[in-house]
Order: sequence, then structure tokens, then C-alpha cells
Amino acid sequence: MSKIILTGDRPTGRLHVGHYVGSLRRRVELQNSGEFEKIFIMIADAQALTDNAENPGKVRDNIIEVALDYLSCGLDPEKSTILIQSHISELTELSFYYMNLVTVSRLERNPTIKSEIQMRNFQTSIPVGFYTYPISQAADITAFKATTVPAGEDQMPMLEQTQEIVHKFNSVYGETLVEPKILLPDNQACLRLPGTDGMAKMSKSLGNCIYLSDTEDEVKKKVMSMFTDPTHLQVSDPGHVEGNPVFIYLDAFSKDEMFAEYCPDYSCLQEMKDHYTRGGLGDVKVKKFLNSVLQETLAPIRASRAEWEKDIPAIYEILHKGSEKAKEEAAKTLSEVKSAMKINYFDDKELINAQSLKYQKQV
Ligand code: TRP
Repeated sequence: MSKIILTGDRPTGRLHVGHYVGSLRRRVELQNSGEFEKIFIMIADAQALTDNAENPGKVRDNIIEVALDYLSCGLDPEKSTILIQSHISELTELSFYYMNLVTVSRLERNPTIKSEIQMRNFQTSIPVGFYTYPISQAADITAFKATTVPAGEDQMPMLEQTQEIVHKFNSVYGETLVEPKILLPDNQACLRLPGTDGMAKMSKSLGNCIYLSDTEDEVKKKVMSMFTDPTHLQVSDPGHVEGNPVFIYLDAFSKDEMFAEYCPDYSCLQEMKDHYTRGGLGDVKVKKFLNSVLQETLAPIRASRAEWEKDIPAIYEILHKGSEKAKEEAAKTLSEVKSAMKINYFDDKELINAQSLKYQKQV
């Protein structure tokens, strides 16, 4: 069976380094591996509207931001189809049919939905669209017959929900849909990069993100004021590396070769961690190294973004073409789904013959 990727992001803000290590970097590697027959990268504007219904302007403005972030990280429109979710009306249609295969209590158990409801203070007034977005996400994935969904850990419940829908659909209506698998980052630190303030997650509203599009100065400022180990007061004090965001970022971004260039006192991250744990290594030195590591990673992305920014209409054209191509794929799946469900009345000669025979006999 051919290998197909689908993954995506909500356009509610610029993408940050958490997105990069959690999924974006991997997508580009997979794209360039040549192992996949088709790759679809979705800007999930319809999903973004499920909790931003009153704020369509925000979603609209961030579509180009996310597209710029994608392209500057190395997603290549020749190899990956970049699409806008709302342009593919087949997805809404699929969602409506999948809704019949999912119970309300199953939606209630989704841990990502539960925590998002808390974060948004939705407890007493949950929009139905928001509540059911795991079903629409199953439509996103299955419409393209995706086998592989590279995504962060928080998307795991969505993948489980999708697998259940696929099983249920195939067992009720016959083998039609393809069961997808999530592809998580292989490095623990990349599963969920904490915010610069040490909070569990980077979030725009907490102001604890380093964006891919931040300037060199912004990155440096954010790194130098990062939260570290609160018990490491003096350089000579023994420090903790576990749960220390500076070291988690180094786990996610640094490579051994970078020590030779930017911090030759150590040959690898473990040596630096050992020194910090023993005592005698100050936060400033570690942060300066992290800054160099991040600048090395982000400089080419920033430079590429500056090039893409020169021709914004060309980017809308890429998105339009990608969406058209994606729509054709989704339409094929929708037609298979409708015939499996036997709601393809007008294409079904047998149905028309059988019904007319029934009435002819009665006459
Ligand atoms: N839920 C994802 C996010 O919050 C976006 C998304 C929508 C997605 N549809 C998807 C991710 C399908 C993977 C597969 O960013």
C-alpha cells in the first residue's frame, strides 16, 4: 500500500520552535526522504474557527503566516501539497456522516478536548463545532487516505478517535477507509517543548514562545531571560537539568558538533549537564550556548522567510493550487464513502432497476 502523509496546524498564530521540533522539522525530512507517494499539509482554518467563531479575522490573517513558516522551513510545494481546510467542502460532508459513528460520551472522554475546554473556560458553554472537531479531524485524515500523521503527543487522542471511526465505518459499510498511524517525535524533549517561562506548553497567550520568525535580537532576549533551575542560585551551587527548560531546549536542538564551535569546554551535552549538576557552571554560559544553537537553527529559516515575503501573491497561488489538487483527492474518497453507505442513488443502476421492477410488479 502506498504511504501517504497528512498533517496540519491551526492558523491562530505564527509557528514557534515547539512546532518546529514537534513536527515541522520531521515533515521536511520525510518529504525529502522520497518514501511517501503523497504528502498533504493542511492549514486547518475550519478547525481554528471552532473556538474562534467570533474572530475570523485572526484566522484569516494567520493563514499567510503559517504558510510562510512552512515554506521557510523547507516544505516544498513541488513535493508537498499545502492546502486550506475550508476550501475542501468534502471534509464537512464526511464529518457529518462520521458523526453517526461516534457517541457523545466518547467525545467527552477525549483528554485533549478536556484540557482545551478548561484552558478556554468553555465549561458551561461548549460550542458544538468545537466539541466535535475530533470527528472533523478524522475526516481530514481519512479523506486523503493518509497512512502516516506526523504530529505532537497532544494529537494522539485525535488519532485514536480516527482509528475507531475507520474500524466502525469499515465494519458497518465494508472496507473503504485507511487506518492511519501517528508518527511522534523520537526525541523525548521534542514531544512537548516547555515555554521559556518553564510552563508545560508554549502558548501565545502566555507570551512564552520563541517564534520561527523572531529576529536575532528577540531570540537572544528570550533565551537570556529564560526560566532555569530556581534552586541554582550561585554558580557554585549544584543544579538540576531535569525539568530545566534551558536543558530541554538543548536536548531538542543541540548537536555534538555545535560544542566545538560555540562552547569548546565540552564535547557533548552530557558533559555540560554533568558539570551543571556538580555545580560550578553558571546559567549565563549555558544560555549563551543555547542562543548560539538556536541562532544557527533559525538563521536559514529567517533568511528563507525574507525571500518568500517578497512575493505574497505567489504564496496565495501555491495555496490555491494545493487546495484544488487536494479537493480532487477528497472528492474521490467521498464518492467511495457514499457508495459504501449506499447513498449514491443516482449512480446506482441496480437500485433504480430494482425499485422500478418492484412497482411494475404491483401494477
Ligand atoms: N489539531 C491540529 C492542531 O491543533 C490541526 C489539525 C487539523 C491536524 N487537522 C489535522 C493535525 C489532521 C493532524 C492531522 O494543530
